[in-house]
Amino acid sequence: MAVPWTFSLLCGLLAATLAEATLSPPAVLNLGPEVIKEKLTQKLEDHNVTTILQQLPLLSAMHDNSAWGVPLLGNLVNSILKYIIWLRVTSASILQLQVQPSPYYQEMMVRIPVNMVAGLNTPLIKTIVEFHMESEAHALIRVEKSNSIPSRLVLSDCSSSDSSLRIRLLHRLSFLVNSLAKKIMNLLMPALPQLVKTELCPVIKAAFDDMFADFLRLARAVPIPLSPGGLEFEPLSLIIEENFIQLDLGAKVLDSKGRVTAKFNNSEMPLTVPALGNKAFCFAVRQDVVNAVVAALLPSEKLVIPLHYVLPDVARELKSSLEMISKQAANRLDGTQIVKIVTQDVPYLDLTPPSTTAAQQIVMDISASEKDLHPLFTVGIETKSKVQFYSEGDRLMFNFNGISSDRIQLMNSDIGIFNPELLKNVITMILTAELLPNQNSKLRTGIPVSIMKALGYETASWSSAKDTLLLTPDSNFL
Ligand SMILES: *[C@@H]1O[C@H](CO)[C@@H](O)[C@H](O)[C@H]1NC(C)=O
Ligand SMILES: *[C@@H]1O[C@H](CO)[C@@H](O)[C@H](O)[C@H]1NC(C)=O
Repeated sequence: MAVPWTFSLLCGLLAATLAEATLSPPAVLNLGPEVIKEKLTQKLEDHNVTTILQQLPLLSAMHDNSAWGVPLLGNLVNSILKYIIWLRVTSASILQLQVQPSPYYQEMMVRIPVNMVAGLNTPLIKTIVEFHMESEAHALIRVEKSNSIPSRLVLSDCSSSDSSLRIRLLHRLSFLVNSLAKKIMNLLMPALPQLVKTELCPVIKAAFDDMFADFLRLARAVPIPLSPGGLEFEPLSLIIEENFIQLDLGAKVLDSKGRVTAKFNNSEMPLTVPALGNKAFCFAVRQDVVNAVVAALLPSEKLVIPLHYVLPDVARELKSSLEMISKQAANRLDGTQIVKIVTQDVPYLDLTPPSTTAAQQIVMDISASEKDLHPLFTVGIETKSKVQFYSEGDRLMFNFNGISSDRIQLMNSDIGIFNPELLKNVITMILTAELLPNQNSKLRTGIPVSIMKALGYETASWSSAKDTLLLTPDSNFL
C-alpha cells in the first residue's frame, strides 16, 4: 500500500522542482571573466596596489620568518643583515589577471600574478644587486550564504601559491656577492608568500568589495528615463556559474510621477539567456518587461484626421473604394471626411528571431464630415508591424517598419452590412500615413541604457532570442 503514497509524494516533489525550475527572472546581467578581470585590475590600481608592493617590508619579513623556524637561522640572518644597507622593491606590477572556474559549487578563483624587482644595496659591491621576483595571489570568490537579498559575493580566501613563486638574480655577480645573494634569496623564498598574504591580500579584498558594490550599483542603475516615466532594475539574486557572475534582476516601470505601474518578479514567462561564450557581458530582458516599456512609450491614444485636407489622395481612394460597397454611402462623403484612429491596446512585441513583430488592435471610425455626430461605420483592425531595434550610442532604438491590416471587422455601420476587407487597401494607407509615423516619432528618442558605458564598452548591439531582448558588446574595452 505504501507504493502509491510514495509515488504520489515523489510526483508532488518532482512537480514542485519542475515548477521552480521554470521560473525566470525579469532580466539577467551576466558578467564574464573579461569584465571581472578589467574591473578588478582597475580597482587594484585605485587602491594603490603598486605602491603597496613597493613598500613591502622585505627585510623585516625575512627576519620574522626565519625567527619562527630553526633557531640557528637567527644567527645566520644577523650575519647576513650586516651586509645589507637596504633591500627593497624597486619596481612592481600586476600582470594579467585570470578568472577561472573552481571545482566547488558557486565559487570561482581569481589569479593575480605579481611581478617585482627588488634592489639590494651592499657594501660588497658598488652597484645595486637586483632580484626578479614573481608570485601569484589566489583569491577565491564565493556567494555568501545568508538570508540577505540579494546574496553577496565575498572574497572567501586569499593566499599565495607556492608553485608560482620564483626569485632569480638579474645579473651575474662575483663569487662573494653571489653567495650573499643566494642566502638572501633563500630567506626571501618563504617570506614572500607570507608578505603576499599579509600585505597584498587585504588590498585585493578591498578592491574586490569595491568592484562588487559597483556591479550592484550598475544592476540597480538609476531609473532609465522613458519619457514619460522610467524603468528600474533591482538585484533579486546572484549566482556564480563557471567563471562568470549572473545577476538576476527584478524590474519596475514607473509613471511620470514616480508611481510604480508595473512590477516584475520571477515568473513562468520564459527568458532565453544564451551562453556567454567569449562575450564580455550579456544583458537579457524578458519580453513582458520590454512590452511594459513599449506600453509606457506608446500609451493608447486617439488620432483625429481630417482626411480630405491631410491626405487628399487617400480621401479619393476611400471614396472610390466605398463606391464599390455602396454608391449612396460614397455620395455622403463630403469634403471634410474625418477618420478617427483609436489604439485600443498598446502594441505587443513578439520577440521571435529572426524577426520581431508588434501586434496591435485599432478601432477606426470613418465619418462623412466633421458635422456628423455618428460615424458612417466603425472597423476593428488587427495590425502587424515589423520591429527593428538597434543601438545608437548608448540608446536602445525601436522602430516600427511598415504596418499591415491583418484582420478587419465591421463593428458598427450606418450604411448596412458590408465586407470591410474591401477597404483593406485604403485602411492600410491611412495607418501607414498617420499611425506609423506618429508612433515612430514617440519612439525616436530611444531609451538610454547605461550598462555598456558603465562597463567600459563603446558599442553594443541589441538582438533578440526567443521571448528575450539581448544586449551584448561589439568589441573590446575602451
Ligand atoms: C591612493 O593614493 C592616493 C595618492 O597617494 C591617495 O589619495 C588615495 O587615498 C589612495 N587610495 C587608497 C584607497 O588608499
Ligand atoms: C519575488 O518573488 C519571490 C518569490 O519567488 C518573493 O520571495 C519576493 O518577495 C518577490 N520580490 C518582490 C520584490 O516582489
